[in-house]
Amino acid sequence: MGSCWSSRVKAESPFSSASASGANSRSVGRDGNGLSGSSSRSSASIPPTLRTEGDILQSSNLKNFTFSELKAATRNFRPDSVLGEGGFGSVFKGWIDKRTLAASKPGSGIVVAVKRLNHEGLQGHKEWLAEVNYLGQLHHSNLVKLLGFCLEDEHRLLVYEFMPRGSLENHLFRRGSYFQPLSWNLRMKVLLGAAKGLAYLHSDEVKVIYRDFKASNILLDTNYNAKLSDFGLAKDGPTGDKSHVSTRVMGTYGYAAPEYLATGHLTEKSDVYSFGVVLLEMLSGRRAIEKNRPRGEHNLIEWARPYMTHKRKVFRVIDNRLEGQYSLRGAQKIASLALNCLSMDAAFRPTMDQVRSTLEQLQETKDAGEQPPKMQEPARARSIGSSGKGSSLISSEEAKSDLGTHSQTINIEGTFLT
Ligand SMILES: Nc1ncnc2c1ncn2[C@@H]1O[C@H](COP(=O)(O)OP(=O)(O)OP(=O)(O)O)[C@@H](O)[C@H]1O
Ligand SMILES: [Mg+2]
Repeated sequence: MGSCWSSRVKAESPFSSASASGANSRSVGRDGNGLSGSSSRSSASIPPTLRTEGDILQSSNLKNFTFSELKAATRNFRPDSVLGEGGFGSVFKGWIDKRTLAASKPGSGIVVAVKRLNHEGLQGHKEWLAEVNYLGQLHHSNLVKLLGFCLEDEHRLLVYEFMPRGSLENHLFRRGSYFQPLSWNLRMKVLLGAAKGLAYLHSDEVKVIYRDFKASNILLDTNYNAKLSDFGLAKDGPTGDKSHVSTRVMGTYGYAAPEYLATGHLTEKSDVYSFGVVLLEMLSGRRAIEKNRPRGEHNLIEWARPYMTHKRKVFRVIDNRLEGQYSLRGAQKIASLALNCLSMDAAFRPTMDQVRSTLEQLQETKDAGEQPPKMQEPARARSIGSSGKGSSLISSEEAKSDLGTHSQTINIEGTFLT
């Protein structure tokens, strides 16, 4: 996923932040309550930020794989079973037995995705542990399922349910016969799924800020159900009368909220802004930042905003591959939702639960689209390498060194350590 203008770096651990006191206790499980999708949080009465590494690894219901088991499951991490690559390392396709979860022969048992930490990479043990901590406790139909982990010597691996259609990023931005453009209705379906996932994280019982919402972290199952992955940067939300948590600025160029970049103050509304960016990427088929576009069009939000504020100009932003698939009213409503999420003033942004409900209403009233979704060609199990990726994680240090090329990330001082 090598990007020419950004790269993933060490993420801040949820365990190192004094501001995320973890003093909140949360009830176990969560069903209904306005958020659709089955969900639960196990061990939720244990404040996650106070848990030690031993607690995290022992209390989860995750399988503790040995390195040799995962070696066998992935046929020695064969290069031709690579599903993709990110800042953490490579992701391999593997097979395990459904019942015992032991490595099984390729083609038998269940398919899994095995993510292996690359020690030369930009992430490390902290992100690995954050993933085990959050995904070991949080269960929801719009979050990817973590099945197990491996911690052996220097090895750090994570084993997930396999998501046959890979990431949303591949579907939106890769060209070629494997990835047909997503139809309008499928884009709406994916958006709603992702909104439900974020709304669940923000709910009172969970109160987690995801901090890394972007197209590459939205994975798709066979039916285009969206699931959020990558909790390496997630943080417990503010507790008590605190309005925010103070953090080092971490995130992804083009997706991070302006006030977060400027102050390091993180709130749930930072995720809402990132959701607005993805919403706009879905509408336009353009990446949040594209340096190879003409001047004035590098930053999707800056380019699109003036069109989106005029009801009759909205269609200029919409991906022309979607022509004939949406109603003008539906497009206007979606554009106005995107504008609200992208409000410069975080207070004007809706909550994720409001976003979810707006998207649901749109789908019910059929304003969102007029034609049935086109049949999509199935994505290959093995995704296409990692080149051409438009965005990955940034740190305040990196952002500082990149000020000249990223006008939207000015103000980063790199001093928001907690
Ligand atoms: N559970 C999974 N099932 C199927 N494919 C997956 C799974 N998890 C990851 N992948 C594939 O591997 C790719 C790399 O994922 P990864 O989360 O490591 O990096 P990324 O999100 O693309 O980048 P970044 O590190 O900047 O967040 C994804 O884009 C996807 O194509
Ligand atoms: Mg990812």
